[in-house]
Amino acid sequence: MRYGAWLLLLMIVFQACNDIEQPQEDIMMGKDIHSFSEPGKAVAKHLSLQLQVDFDTKQLSGIATWDIDTAPDAEEIIFDTKGLIIDSVFLNDDTTAVPFSLGKEDPVLGQALRVPLKAGAKRVRIVYRTSPGAAALQWLEAHQTAGGRHPFLFSQSQCILARSWVPCQDSPGIRFTYDAEVKVPQGMLALMSAENPQQKSADGVYRFRMRQPIPSYLLAIAAGDLVFKPISARAGVYAEPETIEAAVHEFEDLEEMIQAAEQLYGDYVWERYDLLVLPPSFPFGGMENPRLTFATPTIIAGDKSLTSLVAHELAHSWSGNLVTNRTWNDFWLNEGFTVYFERRIMEAMYGRDYAEMLAELGYQDLRQTIARMGENNKDTRLKLDLQRRDPDEAVTDIAYEKGYFFLRLVEETIGRDKFDAFVKTYFQRFAFRSMDTESFVEYFQKEVLDKNPGAAKAIRMQEWIYGTGLPDNCPKVNAVRFRRVEQALQDWLNGTPADSLPTASWSSHEWLHFVRHLPAGLSVEQMKALDEAFGFTQSNNAEIQAEWYAQAALHGYSDAYPAMEAFLLKVGRRKFLVPIYRALLQTEEGKALAYDIYAKARKNYHYVSVSTLDEMLQWNEKVHKTP
Ligand code: BES
Ligand code: ZN
Repeated sequence: MRYGAWLLLLMIVFQACNDIEQPQEDIMMGKDIHSFSEPGKAVAKHLSLQLQVDFDTKQLSGIATWDIDTAPDAEEIIFDTKGLIIDSVFLNDDTTAVPFSLGKEDPVLGQALRVPLKAGAKRVRIVYRTSPGAAALQWLEAHQTAGGRHPFLFSQSQCILARSWVPCQDSPGIRFTYDAEVKVPQGMLALMSAENPQQKSADGVYRFRMRQPIPSYLLAIAAGDLVFKPISARAGVYAEPETIEAAVHEFEDLEEMIQAAEQLYGDYVWERYDLLVLPPSFPFGGMENPRLTFATPTIIAGDKSLTSLVAHELAHSWSGNLVTNRTWNDFWLNEGFTVYFERRIMEAMYGRDYAEMLAELGYQDLRQTIARMGENNKDTRLKLDLQRRDPDEAVTDIAYEKGYFFLRLVEETIGRDKFDAFVKTYFQRFAFRSMDTESFVEYFQKEVLDKNPGAAKAIRMQEWIYGTGLPDNCPKVNAVRFRRVEQALQDWLNGTPADSLPTASWSSHEWLHFVRHLPAGLSVEQMKALDEAFGFTQSNNAEIQAEWYAQAALHGYSDAYPAMEAFLLKVGRRKFLVPIYRALLQTEEGKALAYDIYAKARKNYHYVSVSTLDEMLQWNEKVHKTP
């Protein structure tokens, strides 16, 4: 039997004994340049993980046992690793180890772990340890947490950092189920992107199971002094005891949000949806780990004004976690759809005018990003080419906002009803599968362009997906509430005192729009007047703080520097750090301050923020020494 036919048979047999359909044809279609694995020859289908968490040595150690499917002539199976210390490897239940090999180290991809197979090999057992500097993991000292009593650990696996804590086939086109047993110090709760405990155990041992197949970048773990509070029967929040009440209050509307999402694009299939509020050094706003979104505490503003982030991570339960970008070159399929879905959820919950503010802020971001990158920059294409590059470079406003505006253009061209039907079917049809740009284009051609006369001409799909810059048919946004903000700003510039501007009903989005549009030439006195009237420097809203501190740096408004420094020392969210440091770098005085603060703050940041900022600041440990 030919190899393809053999695999087809294997697929059928495999599907029959699995809860969820897992076609394998999609992973055979092309190579993922960011993984050493060769799933067409041997693919890992289920992971049994046994881990011990050691806060003293900052290491995970244990055994990863993979159930594998192999082609008849497969001589080896290849896993991705990064910084892992591989102790020994066994096949099936054998007690004699096999001679594995670790390939040459690539700075981005890590090392290939090659395990020779024998006939009848169904399982590979890998005994290993992580290195203390594992890129995915951040180990926090007790003083870096809200409670200050226990240390904390969390992972961030996207894009290709899962391989730094689990030997795996680290490609988004490959899915597997998993179970795990994790041991943490007594008094701590451990959580994963799986069925989770809601209470601490007496012995610090926890068991997990993820029955739906997921790609490796959705593997996640966290441990710390955590408690759980429910919000509804299927949703709740985990946080440190100090943060839990504020978090539950902030996310009160969570169940309503899940229902709004289901109304739009179909049932939520992951059973539970919980949030984990992390310490402030978490490098992202949120991460859509299945069943358990990881979130920054900086979205707890006290007034539910930053919960669109939760809508975003929730939306990934469809776009991303169900239908997954096949490679990181197709990242826009994850994020563009998710931003679109996020704004539809926000519109359903808070109305069109509200959602339009989010869209307009997104448009501003997009415009700025394209201006900074250059109209002709290849990275302004939706379909990326990340050959020999770190896929982290895919994380720009292009995937998010150009992706959003493309989908919005389709919606406006064919009408919302037809578009919603298309999206819903797309999620159903490709659930638990991966999608690359080329397959999407083909499907889109068939389901949208061929069925709607005139749509192809109006949309110009090829230009959006494979062209640079922003096409001139980009939809127009008009957030009416922002026009009032601009009027208020104008009035103030014309002499109306700040405290008599009509700002009483402004949400954080209006404030953001206001601060973003402060003219470049403002004097320090004018900055001070605004600050006295509105208390920006002392704001509790991290979005406003970040925007204001960047303005303070640009305008040399030094009254804000102590608060800015405190913010930079505590918060590790890259989206906030980058604009503030960038603004500081604009002036000589600011530059000195930036290096001074970064030297102290760097150790508080996660690897992903550090790598971005090291490059931005051209940081060199030998020249700029950490105190
Ligand atoms: N999945 C992303 C975060 C991510 C992307 C991590 C790529 C690593 C590599 C997550 O869903 C996300 O987009 N988070 C955003 C929030 C959102 C509201 C735009 C963030 O963290 O800012
Ligand atoms: Zn996202």
